[in-house]
Amino acid sequence: MLQGKKIVLGVCGGIAAYKAAELVRLYVKAGAEVFVIMTAAAREFVTPLTFQTLSGNPVHTELFNLIQEREIGHIALADRADLFVVAPATANLIGKLANGLADDLLSTTLMATRAPVLLAPAMNVNMYENPVYQQNEAKLRAVGYHLLAPVTGFLACGWEGKGKLPEPAAIVEETLRLLTPQDLAGETVLVTAGPTREDIDPVRYLSNRSSGRMGFAVARAARLRGARVVLVAGPTALPVPAGVEVVPVTSAQQMRAAVLARFPEATIVIKAAAVADFRPAQQAPQKIKKKEAELVLSLEKNPDILAELGGEKGGRRLVGFAAETADLGENARKKLMEKNLDLVVANDVSREGAGFDVETNIVRLLFRDGRVEDLPQLSKEEVAHRLLDRVRDLPVPGQ
Ligand code: CTP
Repeated sequence: MLQGKKIVLGVCGGIAAYKAAELVRLYVKAGAEVFVIMTAAAREFVTPLTFQTLSGNPVHTELFNLIQEREIGHIALADRADLFVVAPATANLIGKLANGLADDLLSTTLMATRAPVLLAPAMNVNMYENPVYQQNEAKLRAVGYHLLAPVTGFLACGWEGKGKLPEPAAIVEETLRLLTPQDLAGETVLVTAGPTREDIDPVRYLSNRSSGRMGFAVARAARLRGARVVLVAGPTALPVPAGVEVVPVTSAQQMRAAVLARFPEATIVIKAAAVADFRPAQQAPQKIKKKEAELVLSLEKNPDILAELGGEKGGRRLVGFAAETADLGENARKKLMEKNLDLVVANDVSREGAGFDVETNIVRLLFRDGRVEDLPQLSKEEVAHRLLDRVRDLPVPGQ
């Protein structure tokens, strides 16, 4: 995900410095090359050897180091970065940066870089809320620095409040966003994901094998690419992607209501949910007892949400999924026409490596103009990005 990217990571002296070690590990795992700069205070908490071992690169600590300075160390480091991250960033570092002070290797290199800078502050809640600190942050934000807000929790100083460094995975996600071209900026993408559940009685329901992974991957990818994302999700066990607004629903009727409510603000709609086509005609108010020898469930049809959207789509680009077990192309094209879609993502859910509750997918994209594109077996993340490449280039209906 971060293949070939060069990240310069500044580590300041705070108790959260230990979390920066895990951050380096995650960056390296994602394919990035990491160059660590530690302040003197940081070295009181963690040793350079930890970062050197994890990054596989020498750790930079001194502004005037005879060996490092051969290539004017701080300038070389500043120029090398695709992204400059400071985690944890102390109030002191933020204060220095906001006021143009450069008195050690980290602050000097930060001053010299032209790369985007992500600051992840961590400190005592009272320091964080101090108006002087807040002014410094605002000043930095106004000139283009990116700030990742600390999270609320128990702080090492004994206080509870806002000031904890976010988990390393959350910092990696923000890193990824800052390094991803924002080609969907300005779009509002409405995504649906997961199965729906149709209650039979208070303890039983009808549903399907959808895990929600494909829709969640689309939502996450769209957000990384700069879109505002609303994700209407049926019941799943998946973590909410950072920066995505999730609207949880259970039944098809609830999904319909949520989707229709958010439809007006959407510019792109991607319906990856596996909506139950039928629901029990009656929901028993009490648990159904097994006294009968046989039980016949009577089902009635759920509304087809996507078809309804197709009827009033205006200038929105509308993308559906087609889960098939036979005649993939033919069935999918029928859905494209009948539901008035711009693009259909068809998958044969009976194939190994495709469909419900697996990590990968094998899909065929069918366009309104008759084009067909077969994608190889890919991770659902990769499918999501390829799909969004195509969605981005779709003509806006009616234009
Ligand atoms: N869909 C929907 N509302 C429904 C059923 C399906 O919005 N009640 C959407 C799905 O989210 C998907 C597309 O329609 O994007 C196709 O879903 P699929 O289950 O493949 O097809 P159906 O239209 O339900 O047709 P069939 O079950 O006959 O294959």
